[in-house]
Amino acid sequence: MHGTRLDVAPGIVLWREALDRLDQTQLTAEVLALAEEAPFYRPTMPRSGKPFSVEETNFGALGWISDPSGYRYSPLHPVTGRVWPAIPKRLIELWGQTAGYCMPPECCLVNLYRRGARMGLHQDRDEAAMDAPVLSVSLGDDALFRIGGASRKDRTRTIRLQSGDVVIFGGPARLAFHGIDRVMEGTSSLLPTGGRLNLTLRRVTPPSNKKTPDQGADRASPAPLRAGAGRG
Ligand code: SIN
Ligand code: MN
Repeated sequence: MHGTRLDVAPGIVLWREALDRLDQTQLTAEVLALAEEAPFYRPTMPRSGKPFSVEETNFGALGWISDPSGYRYSPLHPVTGRVWPAIPKRLIELWGQTAGYCMPPECCLVNLYRRGARMGLHQDRDEAAMDAPVLSVSLGDDALFRIGGASRKDRTRTIRLQSGDVVIFGGPARLAFHGIDRVMEGTSSLLPTGGRLNLTLRRVTPPSNKKTPDQGADRASPAPLRAGAGRG
């Protein structure tokens, strides 16, 4: 693990250049090869059906999808109807080194930003495993990432994310509103077509509540966490 750790705010960590140029090149090649199997598509907004400006795909057992019926996790690609490819091993390792969580991620959402694409302020709240952090990797062009608090009205700060940077938010910041205001076109030559890739790793299902007999009655275990109602 390379990089410089910056503690941005309680629960928000930025690892500057966590991936060096070689790691970035190899990961980008791997992601683009997997995107041949699970092609990028343009999701649509709940209710309005308005298309996103980013293109998306997923890796892992569960992919995050959006369409007029809402936000949800699905084991199948909405266009091909096939299961998503596995999450690349190097991303599972990165999660293991940095996330401090007992289980591996189940979803790697891949966002592709081209031609003025951006992402409005939202919360990641479709996961039942709210005790797991969100880990996000930036590849390609620089981007202005904005992150605030659990209320849309909270003060936000802007971080210029560069290729190879990793942001992790969890604990008190797990429900922080965040988004991408702008991508600076042409600031990186990493992607053959230009633009920016963002890989977001998330745990969706909480660890099992099952107890072995000598761990005592199940009554003692905390109530299961409720899945969120979707992006704001
Ligand atoms: C997201 O929150 O889904 C994407 C964030 C990013 O592109 O850095
Ligand atoms: Mn998000």
